[in-house]
Amino acid sequence: MSFPWAKQYEPKHPLMKWVDDRLPLPRFVYNAVGAGYPVPRNLNYFWNFGVLAGMFLALQIVTGIVLAMHYAANAGIAFDSVEHIMRDVNAGWFIRYAHANGASMFLLVVYIHIARGLWYGSYKAPREMVWLLGVVIFLLMMATAFMGYVLPWGQMSFWGAQVITGFFSAIPGVGETIRVWLLGGFAPDNSALNRFFSLHYLLPFVILGVVILHIWALHIPGSNNPTGVEVKSEQDTVPFHPYYTAKDGVGVGVALLIFAALIFYAPNLLGHPDNYIPANPLSTPAHIVPEWYFLPFYAILKAFTFDFLWIPAKLWGVLAMFGSILLLFFLPWLDTSPVRSANYRPTYRIFLWILLVDVLVLGYIGGAAPTPAVILIGQIATIYYFAHFLLILPIVSMMERPRPLPNSITEAVLAGKGGTSPAQTALATE
Ligand code: HEM
Repeated sequence: MSFPWAKQYEPKHPLMKWVDDRLPLPRFVYNAVGAGYPVPRNLNYFWNFGVLAGMFLALQIVTGIVLAMHYAANAGIAFDSVEHIMRDVNAGWFIRYAHANGASMFLLVVYIHIARGLWYGSYKAPREMVWLLGVVIFLLMMATAFMGYVLPWGQMSFWGAQVITGFFSAIPGVGETIRVWLLGGFAPDNSALNRFFSLHYLLPFVILGVVILHIWALHIPGSNNPTGVEVKSEQDTVPFHPYYTAKDGVGVGVALLIFAALIFYAPNLLGHPDNYIPANPLSTPAHIVPEWYFLPFYAILKAFTFDFLWIPAKLWGVLAMFGSILLLFFLPWLDTSPVRSANYRPTYRIFLWILLVDVLVLGYIGGAAPTPAVILIGQIATIYYFAHFLLILPIVSMMERPRPLPNSITEAVLAGKGGTSPAQTALATE
């Protein structure tokens, strides 16, 4: 929404006026991320994570383009070409570690970004489209990350591709045909590696396009805020620049420090040692695990150990895994509470914390060896995950008595409760 009190762009330099008269790009930037964009005055640091996600997307594209200059998408030499990048290419180790750890940082940041949306009800009207486009971005990110992990052609690359594409063969009748079509062969090989590389290069630009739509959709209603109460007057807002450019700057600095610590001190912390062994179709690793950010979904995939309702267990696993993400598309309509922010929703808040624990448990189970106890815990955690969205959320939305909302953002700020984070809320209610 363009608020009536939004500042109007006035070029200060004749050159900017010249450009603006011919192509109003300076005006566009001013209104999108400059002083011409009024933003709620009470945003806390959780609102840094969208910008951080954008930063990591940009870093992935830049480091990826440099890697592609030296990488060879050929099953015979892909592994060696990565070693060549690590040893022979100037600063190649740095670019590769930045790209590999950048993927982890990107997903971590996006997970926090999603959790922020869940806590503050940012998926609710009128921001459903922002959320829906976010879920599309998330799906594209997962596909991109999966294909990227195959490229070094190590043992985990190969066997990961084998396992994940193997699940498509669970689709009745056409499954095996789809799998062969996806791989371009009966097992991951040169044709699979080539198409994964091609798509891994393409998809980040598709993500970039959807991110532009995501931010466009956000600029129609404007940002949500920790109270979940909409902006009512000029008093409730501050200009994006300099207030949030400065606040985002703090987040960017902290994120880059953590990123640098990973690259320089623990570059292989999040990787699997087996991926330093060249792919060998004749030797299956004892324990095939995906990257950490896929572990909760991997646990859901493995939770089905028995056939049910004429559907084989493997197909249930695939349906549940995709379902666990596709479910997010329906979230704006599953949660019918008129109150957005969990700060004012005492019951919803408790279940959100339980969901967080549940996802962490799923993450642990996804990486653990499948003992009977691990399988059982994985099944319970999977049931809880679906129950949260399909049962608990609609029921809580109906039954809960939210706490009284402030009349305005300004009122909450003046009462000292404007920008409360989940931790502050927990302290305040103790
Ligand atoms: C490449 C990944 C992404 C980028 C670059 C990105 C970027 C942004 C930016 C810059 C903002 C505004 C600043 C902020 O509120 O933090 C934003 C807001 C938002 N994003 Fe994302 N986003 C990404 C992924 C996602 C995903 C995966 C979801 C959800 C599934 C999502 C949901 C939202 C929502 C609901 C808002 C509105 C927040 C509010 O106003 O409270 N985004 N995003």
